[in-house]
Amino acid sequence: MTEPAVVASVLGADYARLGDEVADLNAAGVDRIQWDIMDGRFVPNVTFGPDVVSACRHYGDVPFEAHLMVADPDPMLADFASAGCGTIIVHVETCPHLHRTLSMIRDLGAQAGVAVNPSTSLDFARHVLDQLDQILVMTVNPGFGGQKYISAMEDKVSEARELADRSGHPVKIEVDGGISADTAGAARDAGAELLVAGSALLAHPDGKRAAVAELRRAMARPVPAS
Ligand code: DX5
Repeated sequence: MTEPAVVASVLGADYARLGDEVADLNAAGVDRIQWDIMDGRFVPNVTFGPDVVSACRHYGDVPFEAHLMVADPDPMLADFASAGCGTIIVHVETCPHLHRTLSMIRDLGAQAGVAVNPSTSLDFARHVLDQLDQILVMTVNPGFGGQKYISAMEDKVSEARELADRSGHPVKIEVDGGISADTAGAARDAGAELLVAGSALLAHPDGKRAAVAELRRAMARPVPAS
């Protein structure tokens, strides 16, 4: 089994040096960078727009993904695709016309992802699996970094994994929230193949490179039977 990919969230980065932070994460060997896009309506926080993402695009060739935690994602899909995001993730809770939204993302040439909050079921997925490239299972309530991992979401991760495997479509399963060396193994064992980490990478006392290496070691370790 290949180890999960390390996706760095820049939510907790130094916003006065975002380009350099992207360059450092790129050099530290992360597999992707996730931009947590927040509008202060869907979640109680406001972060970046597409122009900020675009300004950081040339600071490294690491793939970008946009996690749209916004009340109305459809009007901004093209801007984040143009800003250089190869994957665009919308929240099922904000998409009354999800099938059309996913088609729009793919028509823009990006991979289409759907995120679900902790209390949201995966029922939506049954009807759009052929439109989906990624399912993001939130392991915290969205809005802020540094929160505690909700281990009860592991059942949902496994359910998403089984749903994707049964469908025959190449849908990747991602988790986001509270991912660290302590939780990465359990998230991997539940079926996650993309792990989003923010504070575990950005606030690590030994720096980003050591943090990425520590996370990869944790993902390579077998989790002791509980
Ligand atoms: C929540 C954000 C965070 C962020 C990662 O809305 O999506 O989960 O990406 O933050 P940490 O890794 O600090 O929990």
